[in-house]
Amino acid sequence: MTVALAAKAGEVEVLHWWTSGGEAKAAAELKKMMQSKGHTWKDFAVAGGGGDNAMTVLKSRVVSGNPPAAAQIKGPAIQEWGDEGVLANLDDVAQAERWDQVLPKVVADVMKYKGHYVAAPVNVHRVNWLWANPEVFKKAGAKIPTTWKEFGESAEKLQKAGFIPLAHGGQAWQDATVFEAVALGVGGPEFYKKAFIQLDQGTIKSAKMEEALSTYKSLKKYTDKNAPGRDWNLATAMVIQGKAGMQIMGDWAKGEFLAAGKVPGKDFICTAAPGTSNAYTFNIDSFAMFKLTGDAAKAQKDLAATIMSPAFQEVFNLNKGSIPARLNMDMSKFDDCGKQSSKDFVATAKSNTLVPSWAHGMAMHSATQGAFQDTISQFWNTDSMTAKQAVEKLAAAAKVQ
Ligand code: GAL
Repeated sequence: MTVALAAKAGEVEVLHWWTSGGEAKAAAELKKMMQSKGHTWKDFAVAGGGGDNAMTVLKSRVVSGNPPAAAQIKGPAIQEWGDEGVLANLDDVAQAERWDQVLPKVVADVMKYKGHYVAAPVNVHRVNWLWANPEVFKKAGAKIPTTWKEFGESAEKLQKAGFIPLAHGGQAWQDATVFEAVALGVGGPEFYKKAFIQLDQGTIKSAKMEEALSTYKSLKKYTDKNAPGRDWNLATAMVIQGKAGMQIMGDWAKGEFLAAGKVPGKDFICTAAPGTSNAYTFNIDSFAMFKLTGDAAKAQKDLAATIMSPAFQEVFNLNKGSIPARLNMDMSKFDDCGKQSSKDFVATAKSNTLVPSWAHGMAMHSATQGAFQDTISQFWNTDSMTAKQAVEKLAAAAKVQ
């Protein structure tokens, strides 16, 4: 199929924030594939987990009329960029490669602006995971928690045994990642949808939300004093090295364990965050393409086709910790965490408990998300702030657009 689209070699400049061990290995696979097709890869990596820094840099590049060929842009932000009129139309590639047939409709819809493809998805990350070091748990005589109550009990045991129970990086997006998992576990998927997708004021101001906030705040005593500002992959390293027992993080964390040569089920455990085994918060990474001309535009189309090829979707996701966005992929090379994610993605889609991760730009307008994130971090960092005060702030944040 790609033959029909065979592009003249050109340069592709690709903006991403994949600079940690596992992330960089995954990104290198795309570079390799593009280079093997004769293209020149211009790496535009902006460090900073969650991508906040990358988005700031991207805005200034686009405003100055010099966009990259492609940038990692996700979820509703694709629509915001579409509104700016700067995205390229990828319909010809999508049609030749049958994207409508090989992508789940929920995913395809996110990649389109006004019915036209403007972005290509690379993966599906699950965000509501708990990562644990079984050796540490064994030494502490603790069990892997499946509820938030058990989480507290295990954390106490880990602490008594001299371990840091929860590895955390105090950055706004990581605070939001943890809170999102707690809120899903405490309130369930219907609560989650009403609060974070419909932004329903009644739900945001409910006693459930206060309970979710209090539960979230109760985890702080299980983190260490060096948590503020720590990068997420350094928090993962604490679990890998056996200094900490657990981390609540999306499955890009698995990329770190694997890059360190660790084996799932043996050296580390992946399990749904407490109370969330029947739900799935998804985070789909995708590359939106900017309007270009000449050979660069042709190379860009080849990039889009490469991203969606089964070979790329397999090798990229084996390194990244996520699962392919393409349907009907052979999962035999994936480990148990990947297989579990794939199974749960399908099951939760059927049971209507598959929900977009707001902490990772899948649910809200970027301005609303920013206001939510600020509130959650402020609450985490301010001991005098009550859950009730945080609820009021969230209710105001829901009106920001
Ligand atoms: C997420 C992104 C992932 C991941 C993570 C940490 O927002 O979707 O691909 O790498 O940030 O950088």
